[in-house]
Amino acid sequence: MANRRFLIISDVHANMEALSAVLRAVSRRRYDKAICLGDLVGYGANPDGVVSRLRKIPRMVIVRGNHDKVAAGLASPENFNAAAKRSAEWTASKLSKENLAFLRRLPQGPVELGEGITICHGTMVDEDAYLFSDYDAYEIFKCCAFDVCFFGHSHYPCAFKQAGGSIEFIQLRGESHELILEKGARILINPGSVGQPRDRNPLASFGEYYPDSRRFVLKRVSYAMEKARMKIIKAGLPENLGNRLLAGT
Ligand SMILES: [Fe+2]
Repeated sequence: MANRRFLIISDVHANMEALSAVLRAVSRRRYDKAICLGDLVGYGANPDGVVSRLRKIPRMVIVRGNHDKVAAGLASPENFNAAAKRSAEWTASKLSKENLAFLRRLPQGPVELGEGITICHGTMVDEDAYLFSDYDAYEIFKCCAFDVCFFGHSHYPCAFKQAGGSIEFIQLRGESHELILEKGARILINPGSVGQPRDRNPLASFGEYYPDSRRFVLKRVSYAMEKARMKIIKAGLPENLGNRLLAGT
C-alpha cells in the first residue's frame, strides 16, 4: 500500500530560524507534496530570505495569506494593528523584486489538491476570516465540499472533526499529536504556526499528513528564538514582535 507523506506548514512570518529548524527536522524525509498555508512574511526579520527558501522546496503548493497580500501591495493594511502595519511597510522595503512578484502571484485559497483535500489561509469561504469555534467550523462543513481541509491564520494548532451529526473540537497539544480520520468523517486541521506560535507553546509548529491512511501528525521543534527575537529588535521593528516569540503568544 502506498504511504505518501505531505509536509504541512503555515504562518512562517519571516522567521528564518524557525523555518530552518523545521526543515532540518524533516530533512531526511521525502515529501510527495509540501503545503504552505500562507503568511510567509510579516512580523519577522527575514522576509526575503524566507521567501527565497520556501521557493526552493520541491513539490510545494502555497496559498497566500493576509500578510503576503499587504506586503505585496494587493491589500491595504487598514485592519492591521500598529505593529503589523509597521512590519508590513518594513517587509515590503526588504523584499527583492523577484520575491515581491512571487508573493503577488500566489493563489488565493481555497485550492483543491484532489482526493477531497483542500487548502486555504483563513477559511474556505473567506481567506481573511478566522476559524476559531465549532460554530465557525459548522458553517464551513455546511457549505463546502471537502474531506480534509488544511487552514492557517489563527496560529493555533487544532482540528474540527465532523462525524455523523456532531462536530468535535480537538486541541493539538504536546510535541507530537496524532489524529486518524475514520471513514466517513471530515476534518478541518490547522497545523499551527512555524514562525509565531500563539498557543503559549513557543516551539515551531507544523504537521505531516499521510493521505493513504488519513493520518495527521502535529509536531513541534525548538529553534533559536532568542536570535530571531534580537533580529526583530535590531531591525527597529516593534519589540513586542520579538518578545512574543519567547512566550508563544
Ligand atoms: Fe499569520
